[in-house]
Amino acid sequence: MSNTPIRMETVNQVCHITIDRQDKLNALNRAMIGELDQAFEQAANEASVRVVVLTGAGPKAFIAGADIAELQGLDAAGAAAASRQGQALTLRIQHLGKPVIAAVNGFALGGGCEMALACTLRIASSNAMLGLPEIKLGVLPGYGGTQRLSRLIPRGLAMEMALTGDPIDAERALQLGLVNRVVAPEELGATVKALADKLAASAPTAMRCIMDAINRGADSDLEAGLDLESGYFGEVFGTEDMREGTSAFLEKRAPRFTGR
Ligand code: COA
Repeated sequence: MSNTPIRMETVNQVCHITIDRQDKLNALNRAMIGELDQAFEQAANEASVRVVVLTGAGPKAFIAGADIAELQGLDAAGAAAASRQGQALTLRIQHLGKPVIAAVNGFALGGGCEMALACTLRIASSNAMLGLPEIKLGVLPGYGGTQRLSRLIPRGLAMEMALTGDPIDAERALQLGLVNRVVAPEELGATVKALADKLAASAPTAMRCIMDAINRGADSDLEAGLDLESGYFGEVFGTEDMREGTSAFLEKRAPRFTGR
């Protein structure tokens, strides 16, 4: 993917997917959505990848949204198809089966905010601005923002963000639980690396089960969620990693998880 704005590199089991279209603040056109979809599919299928980090290149933006110039040319059917394409990507990210960390290094607006919402965890630099400004263009979020924002922060505050279109800064996003942590811009890389390395050393099957139980459980009733949990609890007891984790504790040593 060397000639595209989507860069992909795996270092020590952490796959870094970077959007590099800095002259347009990493705004996403449909071709880029397709390439991102392929990149995430590859990361999901590659056994050596345990964690994915998604970020934007440059100091200013994570992703400034869908490409407004491209949006302007769409008719109703094209817009619905574009929404479906973006939703499919955000669903792939949410259900990747591996943790995806959004390193939010600046503007995360519209589709950029929606991409961050689909990630498992969000670490923001203190200069980040997050928001759903689509209303200012006379449209609405189309990559899952109306659904995921109100599942992450209180509904009234999600309404306010989507109806006013006004972005919030990183500290406010932290207060609302929209991001997990806020760090100085120069510390973002090291903070995300430490978190990614920690997760990469963890037991992959148990992580997959935890993410799925929390994600799907949040959209079901308690009993269905508990069924999901106990099914996964049984599944992890069939893994070598469960033997390794419990043995390592009893032998007072650090575990070495293999994903088997
Ligand atoms: N789609 C297409 N181009 C975009 C874009 C987007 N979502 N966001 C930024 N750009 C482009 C600008 O048009 C500009 O291109 P140009 O230099 O060819 O004119 C370039 O990126 C730099 O943006 P600019 O607006 O000059 O930077 P700024 O620092 O003054 O403002 C923002 C930054 C993020 C506040 C502003 O770019 C913005 O509001 N972007 C749109 C955000 C949005 O509505 N996203 C949701 C889309 S559905």
